Amino acid sequence: MHSNRSPVWCYNTRRRIRDLGLQRRDSSGAGLPIFTLYDYSFRPPDVTREKALAWAEEQGICATDEVLLHPDPYATRDMWCAALVSRFEARLESAVREKPDLPLIIANHWPLHESVVHLPAVPRFRLWCGTTRTGDWHTRFHAKVVVSGHLHLRRTDWVDGVRFEEVSLGYPRQWERARSLGKDINSFLREILPGPLVVGQEGVTQWRPNGDIICSGTRESSRNQ
Ligand SMILES: [Fe+2]
Repeated sequence: MHSNRSPVWCYNTRRRIRDLGLQRRDSSGAGLPIFTLYDYSFRPPDVTREKALAWAEEQGICATDEVLLHPDPYATRDMWCAALVSRFEARLESAVREKPDLPLIIANHWPLHESVVHLPAVPRFRLWCGTTRTGDWHTRFHAKVVVSGHLHLRRTDWVDGVRFEEVSLGYPRQWERARSLGKDINSFLREILPGPLVVGQEGVTQWRPNGDIICSGTRESSRNQ
């Protein structure tokens, strides 16, 4: 699957996932790293797959992946995404079969659920933020926590009673902002398990731009923007 044209991070991430498999950290849960990519399906219902890139370009938005991330040996990134989804779906099924009572932490680079994608500055960038194929994995595989990055908008959400943590470390300019507030990299670390004693409110986002929760608000979707 490796191409000389593919970004190194991509190859390394896939290799890490293959090497790691199901990771049991302690008696309180098991972490399963997955890698599912995107397939442009986070888009309004009236925008077809064929028109999706043009829809984003209307607002001047196009991910650098379109130039830098080559899907070979798959013909398209959509097909690569579908293959990855099948692969990790089987992995999750077997993890749940092996340890049905063990709390599962699903860790993915991309958000697993479309409702936690809100990009006020670049709403149509959502095309490159995941796939609707994973939309029920948090309940279907009985996840305790779902962890993701990619958005660079740190937040906590509760979806169907499952905690979703966006834990991106972000860019150096974001670290500088935190530093100016007297914080450091430790401020960005998030407790995954055991986690908060109180279950959060469904449909409410806790925003954590510098680690701590600074505000909570009704979860917004930029799907139709
Ligand atoms: Fe990313």
